Amino acid sequence: MSQPLLRPIKLNDLELNNRVIMAPMTRSRAANEGNVPNDLMVTYYAQRASAGLIISEGTQISEQAVGYINTPGMYSQEQVAGWKKVTAAVHAEGGKIFAQLWHVGRMSHPDFHNGEFPVAPSAINPNDQSYTPQGFKKTVTPRALTIPEIKQIVQDYKAAAKNAMDAGFDGVEIHSSNGYLLHQFFNATSNIRTDEYGGSIENRARILFEVIEAIQEVMPIERVGVRLNPSLHGIFGMTMDEETIPTFDYIIEKLNNYKLSYLHLSEPFNDVSAIPYAEQNIAKRYRPIYKGSLIINAGFTQERGNAVIEAGEADMVAFGVPFIANPDLPERFRQNEELQEADKNTFYSPGAEGYIDYPSLVEAKA
Ligand code: PHB
Repeated sequence: MSQPLLRPIKLNDLELNNRVIMAPMTRSRAANEGNVPNDLMVTYYAQRASAGLIISEGTQISEQAVGYINTPGMYSQEQVAGWKKVTAAVHAEGGKIFAQLWHVGRMSHPDFHNGEFPVAPSAINPNDQSYTPQGFKKTVTPRALTIPEIKQIVQDYKAAAKNAMDAGFDGVEIHSSNGYLLHQFFNATSNIRTDEYGGSIENRARILFEVIEAIQEVMPIERVGVRLNPSLHGIFGMTMDEETIPTFDYIIEKLNNYKLSYLHLSEPFNDVSAIPYAEQNIAKRYRPIYKGSLIINAGFTQERGNAVIEAGEADMVAFGVPFIANPDLPERFRQNEELQEADKNTFYSPGAEGYIDYPSLVEAKA
């Protein structure tokens, strides 16, 4: 019997060769004026095409959505043309790739916007750091979005989804986790609005469903994934309160109304055992609630990945750092080979080093 991670799976109409998913990872190689995907990125993603599914790094849906240097966009025709080369190369290798659609909200910095302030549900400083063109800087107090601006952002998601389909992606993932814009709406600690986007659980969740409904107008819902990180506390500028987990309960229950490609959940990124209102076992809590296909992520090993699928707590596992240093990760799992270590110093550095120079198993053995 093959390892659970290596069994094929069908996500609605999309067949994956295995359940080893490449997690979305910011790699900051789109180091050009228009943040256009380039040949380095073509090679990087093609090298990793044996993943059951590649989820791309976060791609900003508009100029306003950016918050890190050299991250690629999904709003200009030049970017679409660049992504076309990436998706063609992945498909030529037999792979599947989704585009992650990203708006960082208050995690951005005035340095990205000619001195204008980043936007968020409410004017609450995340008190974190922003990685700007001039290095790390303290985040600022963002400007609260008006309702017409929120409607515009929903349209920006829709346009980016359309662009992603034009660029040949197999689907899109809505980045609604890790303390970025949509997540900022969910938590009452970052959203103190008193209109229809704040106050109640239903109101704080509203924007996500508006984004889903808008995207649904330009592509099949069967190819849309959603990412959530419910127990995010003390990092990425986020804090939880007693309403946070009930909010995610509501969101995840309601996602059952859509025939999504998958729900992508993260286990806590840090130790939340001392936080009384945090949920420490995300897959365990949400597997019985969510009826569709489930990806689980964050810090999994091959052994724990096989175990979580065997236990029926998730259908697929997304691996991040292991995919940086092991482009053919499923093959390494198949042969139970040791993994190569990733060099943190080149996670976000420009250029080929630490990006496309990790050998495959065959190359390493040669
Ligand atoms: C990061 O660049 O640190 C980063 C970006 C997107 C995420 C998480 C981390 O969702």
